[in-house]
Amino acid sequence: MEQFLLTALLLLLSDLRGAAEALVVKVEVPVYKIRGDAAELLCHYDLEGATLYSLKWYKGDSQFYQYIPANRQTKTVFQVPGVNVDTSATSMGHVRLVGLPLSASGAYRCEVITEAPQFVTRFGEGNMTVIDLPASAPVLEGAHTAYEAGDVVNVNCSSPHSQPPATLEWYINEQRVVEPRLLRHYTPIQETDGLQTAVLGLYFRTSKRHFLSGHLRLKCIAKIASIYLQSQETAVRETNFQPHTQAEESRHDPFYFFNSPSSATVAHLSLRLLLAALGRIAA
Ligand SMILES: *[C@@H]1O[C@H](CO)[C@@H](O)[C@H](O)[C@H]1NC(C)=O
Ligand SMILES: *[C@@H]1O[C@H](CO)[C@@H](O)[C@H](O)[C@H]1NC(C)=O
Repeated sequence: MEQFLLTALLLLLSDLRGAAEALVVKVEVPVYKIRGDAAELLCHYDLEGATLYSLKWYKGDSQFYQYIPANRQTKTVFQVPGVNVDTSATSMGHVRLVGLPLSASGAYRCEVITEAPQFVTRFGEGNMTVIDLPASAPVLEGAHTAYEAGDVVNVNCSSPHSQPPATLEWYINEQRVVEPRLLRHYTPIQETDGLQTAVLGLYFRTSKRHFLSGHLRLKCIAKIASIYLQSQETAVRETNFQPHTQAEESRHDPFYFFNSPSSATVAHLSLRLLLAALGRIAA
């Protein structure tokens, strides 16, 4: 009988252990936030029948919060540079950070430990990047008001004072410029306020086909992650533009200079190949 009880107890213990080892911790950490905003960090856990001993939040290797249900004071906040916890809006696994500085960017980890005897530990981790948006829309420099076919266009686009620096794209008549020889890449300018100004140059020789009805449109788009998108554009005139000859000119493929194989066609083709391959597997 004792033997039976012991076996039953061991089975129960190993069962509990198995349950606790199934402990799953998932975090929700915003990927991007704007400087000064608040951020909600969520730590979800499924204890699978075990009891929570502690839940801790870390930024990098520094602990800034703990929740220990068995303690008299269940919530404790620790000072970590860049991390301002709003204690009144923080409970259990849910932490609210306020007044985000740029230095709040980094890896956030939630650690969950179950009660004795197992003390199973699991982590969930997410990265957050705090962004300072550019001071203004991108600025175009160096464009003349008019060009003659054959003239060189040499212009800069800059997106002032942001963190991280914006990524820039040039468009000629709505066609994205991808040819490396037309683009001049510069390292972002380090500003005294700690922010950066991104600069991208565009350099090309104009030809008749660039001028549509006597105009050439230059556009620059500045982007930061999925959070920021602003553009600036300018239209320059063709000197001595004669409407008639221009009409003749644009009847030929006007974008031949900037054409690349249509990506829509490529995508379509690869989808068909994929479907064909799947069909073969299914068969
Ligand atoms: C966070 O960023 C680090 C360093 O860039 C990377 O190694 C890690 O995989 C990222 N973690 C997540 C959850 O995206
Ligand atoms: C573009 O910016 C670069 C780097 O700041 C500078 O060296 C260059 O002279 C500028 N070009 C024009 C056309 O403004």
